Amino acid sequence: MLEVKDLWVKYRSQHGRSVSAVRGVNFSIPDGTFMGLVGESGCGKSTLGFAIARLLNSQQLEISGSVLLNGEDLIKMSSRELRKLRWDKIAIVLQGGMNAFNPVLKIKQQFTDVMKAHGQGRAEDRDQRIAELLRHVQLDPALLEAYPHELSGGMKQRVAIALSLVLNPELVILDEPTTALDVIVQKAIVEMLQELQRHMKFSVLFISHDLGLVLEAAERVMVMYAGKIVEEEPVEVLLEGAKHPYTEALLSCYGDPQAKELRFKGIPGSPPDLSKPLQGCSFVPRCSKAMSACRELEPQRLELERGAVACHLYTKMQGGIGK
Ligand SMILES: Nc1ncnc2c1ncn2[C@@H]1O[C@H](COP(=O)(O)OP(=O)(O)OP(=O)(O)O)[C@@H](O)[C@H]1O
Ligand SMILES: [Mg+2]
Repeated sequence: MLEVKDLWVKYRSQHGRSVSAVRGVNFSIPDGTFMGLVGESGCGKSTLGFAIARLLNSQQLEISGSVLLNGEDLIKMSSRELRKLRWDKIAIVLQGGMNAFNPVLKIKQQFTDVMKAHGQGRAEDRDQRIAELLRHVQLDPALLEAYPHELSGGMKQRVAIALSLVLNPELVILDEPTTALDVIVQKAIVEMLQELQRHMKFSVLFISHDLGLVLEAAERVMVMYAGKIVEEEPVEVLLEGAKHPYTEALLSCYGDPQAKELRFKGIPGSPPDLSKPLQGCSFVPRCSKAMSACRELEPQRLELERGAVACHLYTKMQGGIGK
């Protein structure tokens, strides 16, 4: 359904410093799949999500590659074509989505505005659809008469999800949708989203820095590091054992839940500066399994039976490079 091919996004600053936030990303999301995207802060997750929805201001950046939605390339579309497609085919929910509502408009008006802008006709049909959506996100339709400030953070995020579904999109991108909420509300929203997705059959790209949450929410997971997808797998395969040393390190941060003593573990070192040219594998300085080849050559995405990995350990296992 969605196919991203060799996508690059480079931010240009006025001072001549440019940051390559997405560096040659390839993946696809089949129809009706709940895909998770995880990685440390600054690795390019939001940039990737925004690039797919074409929400980046193209004057300040260079974007190349293709984003095919049912075969149509969004990168080549005019802003007019994109306006028609947003909400209708692709919708996005942000962490800040909780504050994205117009504070002086009642909740109902925010739904009506989107529907009217996309030519959704009769008022009664609209009202019926909006009330139904509120019930889908387990809220009382009476809240439609409320102003955004009258809702709690969790309620606002449920409304933001309902609003994203108003035109029955094929793909919903959620960027840290529950990050500002407490864990109980977080879990309830994730469960609700899973149920909605099964019922309404849209595809999801769920972005979070929280691997635990993504493993709970998604069917497949992509792990991003320094602008690249370094591993992609079904959740059950990843839980059997990570392939990329970075994924392994991320998983080990969660520790053993059975252990008597809870210890917080991090990954030593920090991600590379994306404004500088990178040689070889960008994880080398933090990788306990690095080989000499890793310093020289950038590992390419290797398709596996049920996923993909970009790491020389696997190129080596397949009889390729590596010392
Ligand atoms: N508008 C911008 N101009 C210049 N650089 C930017 C801009 N937005 C993001 N960046 C840089 O691009 C890189 C990726 O940022 P991005 O926000 O996509 O990461 P992220 O993975 O979503 O991080 P977080 O988990 O903190 O949300 C970072 O190095 C960031 O500093
Ligand atoms: Mg982000």
